[in-house]
Amino acid sequence: MSDAPSPSTPTSTAAPASASQGARIIAVTSGKGGVGKTFVSANLAAALTRRGQRVLVLDADLGLANLDVVLNLHPKITLHDVFTGKSSLDDAVIAAPGGFSVVLAGSGMVEYSRLTPEVRNQFLNVIQTLAPRFDVILLDTGAGISDVVLFSVSLASEVLIVATPEPTSLTDAYAAIKVLAMQQKRQHVRMVVNQAARPGDGRAITSQLQQVLERFVATDSGRPLRLIHMGDIPADLAVRDAVMRRQLLLLNTPGCPAALAISQLAGKIEETLLSRAG
Ligand SMILES: Nc1ncnc2c1ncn2[C@@H]1O[C@H](COP(=O)(O)OP(=O)(O)OP(=O)(O)O)[C@@H](O)[C@H]1O
Ligand SMILES: [Mg+2]
Repeated sequence: MSDAPSPSTPTSTAAPASASQGARIIAVTSGKGGVGKTFVSANLAAALTRRGQRVLVLDADLGLANLDVVLNLHPKITLHDVFTGKSSLDDAVIAAPGGFSVVLAGSGMVEYSRLTPEVRNQFLNVIQTLAPRFDVILLDTGAGISDVVLFSVSLASEVLIVATPEPTSLTDAYAAIKVLAMQQKRQHVRMVVNQAARPGDGRAITSQLQQVLERFVATDSGRPLRLIHMGDIPADLAVRDAVMRRQLLLLNTPGCPAALAISQLAGKIEETLLSRAG
């Protein structure tokens, strides 16, 4: 992993490289909210599990968690209980419908709107403890560029930005990528375009964003940050239906276009990031 970043945040000491020992840690993040991070994280986890990977999804949207809603889980133990010492981490790791593991977070907790040293240390500790037990950990992060979001992303060796083709989503994706290039010294970021209208949309959008980055964002290495297009997921009414039923799309309607696209994305992630040799 020659171009793995050195994780850092403006207000934190850098997370040690050991944060990524064991599992490959992938942050699923976005500039704008509501673009499909949680939907992608949960269904990608199911698709990777089907391919034989040991997968954990961690709800890193600490204050406004909703992975539990998408998976129809009613958590008795959340990261908040682990952070506050009320529960052990082992008890917080629970089985999700797609056969993967999840650690859920609480919702409506204002204490997680700021990054405190306690949250930072606890979060890092959780990742370091869980990493040896899995092949891949997906961090379903909050949107935007707050300290908490940037810290959770800094714990990952790979970043998967979810964006939709809407101009507002792309502007915010650009802003988030710029911050990741500048602050975390990322040399590459991976893109998935969700709710694509036509095949080929995502590739065109990714190359447009790449051009803007090359013009306006200089990295320390002098090389522009590379955007790697990982795939597109079409807008599909079956997604909304699955979310309303609180079911995984991959279980609810495995043959629909969005489910097929997620399976393809899982194949690409496995091929590029999870090969044993890598
Ligand atoms: N490919 C798609 N086709 C149709 N609808 C979609 C698709 N992807 C996501 N959606 C819709 O977008 C909604 C929001 O998705 P999701 O909750 O995963 O976004 P998010 O990025 O995690 O949001 P937040 O920033 O609030 O955490 C879903 O409930 C679903 O209705
Ligand atoms: Mg979400």
